[in-house]
Amino acid sequence: MAEVEVLRDAAVLIDGKRIAWVGPRRDAPNVGVVEVNGVLFPGFIDCHTHAVFGAPRLDDQERRALGVDYKAIAAAGGGILQSVRDVRSRTEDELEALTRSRLSALIAHGATTIEVKSGYGLELESELKQLRVIRRLADALPATLIPTFLGAHEVPPEYRGNRAAYVQLVCEAMIPTVAREGLARCCDVFCEPGVFSASESRQILTAARRHGLAVKLHADELEGSGGAELAAELGALSADHLAAVSDAGIKALAASATVAVLLPATMIFLGKRSQAPARRLIEAGAAVALATDYNPGTSPTMSLPLVMALGVSQLGLRHAETVTAVTINAAAALGLAAERGQIAAGYVADLVVAAVDDWREVAYWLGSDVVSNVWTAGSACPA
Ligand code: NIG
Ligand code: FE
Repeated sequence: MAEVEVLRDAAVLIDGKRIAWVGPRRDAPNVGVVEVNGVLFPGFIDCHTHAVFGAPRLDDQERRALGVDYKAIAAAGGGILQSVRDVRSRTEDELEALTRSRLSALIAHGATTIEVKSGYGLELESELKQLRVIRRLADALPATLIPTFLGAHEVPPEYRGNRAAYVQLVCEAMIPTVAREGLARCCDVFCEPGVFSASESRQILTAARRHGLAVKLHADELEGSGGAELAAELGALSADHLAAVSDAGIKALAASATVAVLLPATMIFLGKRSQAPARRLIEAGAAVALATDYNPGTSPTMSLPLVMALGVSQLGLRHAETVTAVTINAAAALGLAAERGQIAAGYVADLVVAAVDDWREVAYWLGSDVVSNVWTAGSACPA
């Protein structure tokens, strides 16, 4: 992860949507040249967002500041279920307009591929509504959107007395419909004590795999419950969060192809003083990616460069490791490593320019706008 190749006075040749060649500027043909002032990176890949939501959750934020924790806020009617009431009550058009401007901001900060989860519907029609918003925006926006079904984000109020029936609904009605309509590429579950247990998560993800969806897992976010081990066992693309991962979970991830997706902005926004054990994961041999976790409850940030800077200061990553974490490894967390995340011949021509002198500055200017230009599939994105 610490090895990145840095070329000076380089040129990239783009043919259609793909990169055809990269090498010294003096060897490049002198036609159709676009000069870049700064450092050209592979387009950043935000492999974990919950970008389809209604209002921000400002009261939750203040209650937390005054000492109430995330789970207590949820138990008192705030938290995910507040966003669920909100999303259920909005039209698809309204959600599309809100999500469009939010995703545009993520793109302006350099995200050229963005995973977007449902999970604020928790009933068939509202989950489909969120996934249709993602599909519409995938057609309208220049970035590539990867839709993930997260019907098991929380147990909805109408099933509080009968969680088994909700798990059954997810497995037998929601997953088959989502898969049949081609509305999601992946399926995710919030595996956490008090939300979905490891055995419920296994049941849901097994059904998802049977219907051809790749699987991901919110694992060991606040308390450990064997989520990392489960993700590795199921061959998940990624295990995400991992602030409370166990030693056995680290070992299991290191021995698997499952990517450890770390979300440092979330722990900061929640006011936690701990972070996922990034160094131990890397030293053990796990592949680590970074993402925003962009959502209204725990991480309202639209900036992967900010997350990279937090990767250095909060997770103990090297600059180069943060670059790998938002490019090659984030591509792997979405099953896209063969064609995204590198500036190399054959790869999709998703590129970003950071207006800096030294490439390491991309993970340095905490919260400022370092990205000046973005290209997706070979075309410049409107500023
Ligand atoms: O990744 N952990 C579960 N889901 C989100 C939070 C969603 C919310 O609070 O609305 C997360 O942190
Ligand atoms: Fe999340």
